[in-house]
Amino acid sequence: MCGIVGYIGNRNSQEVLIEGLKKLEYRGYDSAGVAVFTKNGLEVKKSVGRLANLESKLGDAPLEGTIGIGHTRWATHGKPSDANSHPHTDSSLKFSVVHNGIIENYATLKEELIANGHVFLSDTDTEVISHLIAVEYQGDIVKAVQKAVKRMRGAYALGVLTEHEPDRLVAVRNASPLIIGVGDGENFIGSDIPAILNYTRDVYILNDGEMAVLTRDGVELLTLEGNFISRELFHVDWDLVTAEKAGFDHFMLKEIYEQPKAYRDTMGARISEDGKRVVLPEVKMTEDEIKRISRIHIVACGTAYHAGLVGKTIIERLTGIPVETDVASEYRYRSPIITPDTLVIVVSQSGETADTLAALREAQRCGARVLAITNVVGSSVAREANSVITTWAGPEIAVASTKAYTTQLIGFYLFGLFLAQTLETQKPEYIAEVLSALQQLPTQVEAILEKAEDIKDIAEQAATHEDLFFIGRGIDYAVTLEGSLKLKEISYIHSEAYPSGELKHGTLALIEDGIPVIALATQDELLEKTVSNIKEVVARGGYIIGIGNEGDAELPRQVDRLFSIPRTLGLLTPALSVIPLQLLAYYAALARGNDVDKPRNLAKSVTVE
Ligand code: F6R
Repeated sequence: MCGIVGYIGNRNSQEVLIEGLKKLEYRGYDSAGVAVFTKNGLEVKKSVGRLANLESKLGDAPLEGTIGIGHTRWATHGKPSDANSHPHTDSSLKFSVVHNGIIENYATLKEELIANGHVFLSDTDTEVISHLIAVEYQGDIVKAVQKAVKRMRGAYALGVLTEHEPDRLVAVRNASPLIIGVGDGENFIGSDIPAILNYTRDVYILNDGEMAVLTRDGVELLTLEGNFISRELFHVDWDLVTAEKAGFDHFMLKEIYEQPKAYRDTMGARISEDGKRVVLPEVKMTEDEIKRISRIHIVACGTAYHAGLVGKTIIERLTGIPVETDVASEYRYRSPIITPDTLVIVVSQSGETADTLAALREAQRCGARVLAITNVVGSSVAREANSVITTWAGPEIAVASTKAYTTQLIGFYLFGLFLAQTLETQKPEYIAEVLSALQQLPTQVEAILEKAEDIKDIAEQAATHEDLFFIGRGIDYAVTLEGSLKLKEISYIHSEAYPSGELKHGTLALIEDGIPVIALATQDELLEKTVSNIKEVVARGGYIIGIGNEGDAELPRQVDRLFSIPRTLGLLTPALSVIPLQLLAYYAALARGNDVDKPRNLAKSVTVE
């Protein structure tokens, strides 16, 4: 994880770095630091804790200079502390490095360096990089970096400065994201585009094994062998304001309310004007190739995995093709059966999640085609997959994913229908019916959001408890998993999600007087059975919060509190029923006084395995 930023130009670099780091805090925020060339040489300031701590240190003693690098950290090797914060320097203090990623062979390298007299000041893997570069330096920082990275195994995006060459900033990437911003008389590096968007809209996106040499006047892209790379600039045409809070108290709430627009944008031109067909030119497969698909694997992490669980039901019901959904960190290690007729769908908001990317590569190595559902154009996942369905959710800043999840669902509905129309596994009238229901979802979400106060009330009550349970059957169960994760990650309330029928096989023992149990019951054909399970909980004193469809007669009679969602087709209910669960988590976290957008121990983008 971690975010890196760098600047070379004529502005006060400290200000540019801090601005950039603010935009990258979603990548990690347990410590931060900057290195700037000042009249005294290469000076480093760093501080454990939020960026504000570093800002106040710099406020007391600013670093005056026009070249610098900065870092916001999410600890992997070594606990959050001043010493473990980046930038890291070598023993001579002449080389300074910021790093995002993990150096897998750092321990061996460190041993070797220590044996040669190097003194280490931190527990990080990164510190070996600055020492290695110093060892390799013979008057050319570019060559030194090339030689040093050849000795490293693992993932890295690096920003490197040396006091010996105060007019050059070097950046290099392998398996961690890195972009180069190109300005007029100034240039930038960043882990992500928002970091530099205040200053320029023209960027190069670095690929693995590429480096960039920045001076005030220009940027050179090179391979690690030193060959020049020619690449077109990418012009960013989205607005930074879309990444600001726009009047909401938190990014998460803003992003919850953006869902109607995100649904509309993601469906966009992908539904034909007559509303009868799905149009997905981005799926780069011929009809024959689609017909040959014999199985589908969906692979993702966390919330995206939960979207994949819903995706399994969507695709199986619409096409009859067997689908398995896997947690990406487990996928490679269970030796999945991947054949050339397997389609692997990877789902990732950021498109940079290391485990998901590794699963993608493994699938391709085994000859499978990979379709990505991702929210970040130009991300590693988007660039490496054979086909990409972009979820047009816009930048998601809150660590807890909301609009990315629901637009991933929309991606699955569209793709499932696309397969069904190509394979003719559903009648055209049914496909048109589902498409029509899909197009009503944004308005139905708006109707749910209008009742947010009801959920707030339920959430404030729930926030007084330490344990909470979710139950649901079939597709509802998949949604409860997401509801439970959302609640845990931001409210820190312990919660578990169970298939309703499974509770009595053990977990029922935990139900005591007053324990809140959220029962999701949106599937008409399963309602009777879910009601029986609700009664089992009521008999043990559980307090039932029911979430069902408007107009249900039975559910209101069985529950203590009820929240109803507008009626839609059974298959589409996840795109509605998850909204009250997102709001529940948000308001419970708020009631507990937590930092909603930046929950403890977490970071937005997990680029380490
Ligand atoms: C939870 C959350 C995480 C991510 C997971 C995968 O709210 O956001 O569980 O879903 O880390 O991230 P992406 O989708 O970027 O691959």
